[in-house]
Amino acid sequence: MSARALDDARTRSLDDAVREANVLVTTGAGGVGKTTAAAALGVAAARAGRRTLVLTIDPARRLAQAMGLDGLTDEPHRVDLDADASGQEATGELWAMMLDMQTTFDRLIDRHATSPQNAAAIKSNRIYRTLSSTLSGTQEYMAMERLHELHDTGEWDLLVVDTPPTRSALDFLDAPNRMTSFLEGRLLRLLLKPGVAAGRGVGRMVGASATAFMRVAGRVTGMELLQDLADFFRDFEGMYEGFKERADEVLALLRDPDSRFVVVTSPEPPPLREARFFLERLEQEGLHAAGVVVNRVQPEMPRDPSAASLRRAAEKLDDGDDPAEPATASALRLLSDVRNLATRQRRDVAAALYSVEPSVLVEVPLLGRDVHDVDGLEEIATTLTTTR
Ligand SMILES: Nc1ncnc2c1ncn2[C@@H]1O[C@H](COP(=O)(O)OP(=O)(O)OP(=O)(O)O)[C@@H](O)[C@H]1O
Ligand SMILES: [Mg+2]
Repeated sequence: MSARALDDARTRSLDDAVREANVLVTTGAGGVGKTTAAAALGVAAARAGRRTLVLTIDPARRLAQAMGLDGLTDEPHRVDLDADASGQEATGELWAMMLDMQTTFDRLIDRHATSPQNAAAIKSNRIYRTLSSTLSGTQEYMAMERLHELHDTGEWDLLVVDTPPTRSALDFLDAPNRMTSFLEGRLLRLLLKPGVAAGRGVGRMVGASATAFMRVAGRVTGMELLQDLADFFRDFEGMYEGFKERADEVLALLRDPDSRFVVVTSPEPPPLREARFFLERLEQEGLHAAGVVVNRVQPEMPRDPSAASLRRAAEKLDDGDDPAEPATASALRLLSDVRNLATRQRRDVAAALYSVEPSVLVEVPLLGRDVHDVDGLEEIATTLTTTR
């Protein structure tokens, strides 16, 4: 992306996305601020008059408390918003909920089981209970499944979906496929013949499932394990089609132009690289990016004096003999470092996003505190939706 295109992207905000989209998915590397951004986008949308639901995953405890989500609840819960700084009441509504994976998975079983007895048998199967909570990709898939359910109710103008802290943000897009191939039983059958699996080098997916499988094997012993496994395959027979259709529907919903991805990153090179890969991947998959949020950015400072001249001034002070001067010299050095950091971050952002062209690039400054209350979210919401 040229410097010009990047500057253009910087002049736009996520305001359009907040007003127009029906689904916003925040995604990005671990710890960059996905949950915070999802909650802040929810606040912005409620302020813009929309009935909004934020589906969070593992929010930090204090943020969960601030949003009234401290007890694990799988149902939407209304969040009160005060009048904003100018005394304006929110014209829309903010609701929030926390994803409960097991409940969502169980409901999915209820929906696709051939009979209530069949559903009950699966839900009490130990293989199912362990795999449904440990298989890699399950959390991502369940978030998508819950999104589908909530979208079907037609009750919401906007659903904002947070994504789990995956090793790689890309795992998230693979989750529906991974889940269906697991359900088709291919993986488990392969795992029952470990030599075959290793010989064919089926890759990371098998590695992750094998770990989950070994965990099950460690908890349930011998014959019991074999019995549960046999039951599991018998009970799942006939459900694969339903799951597969459902996964296809989820992907279709995500491909809708009113579903958009907000790619969150910090200004450090590794998360930025992931953001770039993710943007490329969205394009390949025909999915829509709302824009990039670079979170926790060191705010830019006036050009003068430069970092180098601050450092020179500090050196001069070091040479003097006034006892107050070392403190002043340290302050100047610190300012010089902060300025260098601000410059480096902008350079890294430009370098990482060179090949992709996000239409919107919003920088959120590093706040002096964690974002764990509605006031903090309001502050971020304003930054996300204000054009420069
Ligand atoms: N702009 C900011 N300034 C200061 N602190 C921030 C900012 N944005 C987020 N934080 C803090 O950073 C921490 C991580 O944020 P958050 O939980 O949103 O990240 P995440 O991407 O959802 O993490 P995970 O991948 O673990 O789910 C939180 O404590 C949050 O309050
Ligand atoms: Mg999170």
